Amino acid sequence: MTALSSGSSRPLKGRCRVPGDKSISHRALILGSLAIGRTRIKGLLEGDDVLRTASALRELGARIERAKDGTWSVDGAGTGGWHEPNGVLDLGNSGTGARLLLGAVATHPFTAFFTGDDSLRRRPMARVIEPLSRFGARFTAREGGRLPLAVVGTSSPVPILYTLPVPSAQVKSAVLLAGLNAPGETTVIEPIATRDHTENLLRHFRAQVEIAQVENGRRITLSGQPELRAADLAVPGDPSSAAFPAVAALITKGSDIAIENVGINALRAGLFATLLEMGARISTSKPREQGGEKVADLRIRASELHGVEVPASRAPSMIDEYPVLAVAAAFAKGRTVMHGLGELRVKESDRLAAISAGLKACGVHVEVEGDTLVVEGAGERPKGGAKVAALLDHRIAMAFLVLGGAAQKPVRIDDGETINTSFPGFTKLMNSLGARISGAKA
Ligand code: S3P
Repeated sequence: MTALSSGSSRPLKGRCRVPGDKSISHRALILGSLAIGRTRIKGLLEGDDVLRTASALRELGARIERAKDGTWSVDGAGTGGWHEPNGVLDLGNSGTGARLLLGAVATHPFTAFFTGDDSLRRRPMARVIEPLSRFGARFTAREGGRLPLAVVGTSSPVPILYTLPVPSAQVKSAVLLAGLNAPGETTVIEPIATRDHTENLLRHFRAQVEIAQVENGRRITLSGQPELRAADLAVPGDPSSAAFPAVAALITKGSDIAIENVGINALRAGLFATLLEMGARISTSKPREQGGEKVADLRIRASELHGVEVPASRAPSMIDEYPVLAVAAAFAKGRTVMHGLGELRVKESDRLAAISAGLKACGVHVEVEGDTLVVEGAGERPKGGAKVAALLDHRIAMAFLVLGGAAQKPVRIDDGETINTSFPGFTKLMNSLGARISGAKA
């Protein structure tokens, strides 16, 4: 374990780029591994989560290599072309890697074993086991549908129509990836729209995907057994990673930073919408399109924030950003009320509990009422001075390091290693802007 401490930051200044989007990186590798030909990927996130997915895909039959200039190449096996893996597929900390690969494997006629780290082994897999079983796959999992588990993929898949019971892009994607190797049409209906990177990339790889607004939500229909064609792409910077330097700049007096090349997909933009409502000085420039995704440069200046009410309907578009939004709320004037956060309980940690415990330890008044989180901002810098348990959760670790940079006293986290799952180089990047994050005694 590597403990880290974050002390009083200088005003953050300068330009930076954050690593590639985690969601898009997983999907690019998976679809490249199911396509015919060579896909070249620039800007792939080289974080532990994505590297685990790459290793699993190699076990399944794809050839994946990294060139010296950082471009990744993926030689795919074609739709339905994977083979039985020799060993256990260990997805480490990655819920996305595990759930998306379970989907793709479910309609391949072989058996595969999946596991992950302590955090992933606690997370619910029943939400994908249930729809994937309807294709004809069989699963043997631990109590409550937890990893490790075995999946026996089906040789005669039946396409399904599935309405998402939870707003989860991972579940939607698992179903669509299973549908790739099923004949006929697989349809997912999502009552609340979730990130659409799978749909965008499926089209990029020439699958036929129809999207329509229907009475009960957004309907996505995939025509099965397409011949996916290799398709190069450049992965945009991850807005969920940009969130950390962005909030750090907002709460640190005198800051003025630019983050270049950030994904601004509307289904991921909830945090920025919320921060703008709180009075944040954030502007975008040079909007452009890259591989079917919108990107732009962001400018963020220190701001006087005020509390707001965040509706439950916005949660899917900022589901990973609540830890750092709660930190911003702790520096704001007045009360911020965040509704509809039940899903935070089943992330890399129970994030509702982790946010609440960490903020309380830092002297912030916070309450959890059912699925609602209430943070009382005193309009001044919180006390800080606490040691926070990161709980194998990268975003909890980064959120509290951001808090420590602007609080009255430094904040320590017990373990910063998991930051590498999504944001390798976080400490270096933050310090290059003016933060003071360093190794600490555990
Ligand atoms: C992700 C979807 C979200 C998100 C996760 C990445 C994805 O999870 O929290 O970090 O890439 O599809 P859920 O599908 O569980 O909401």
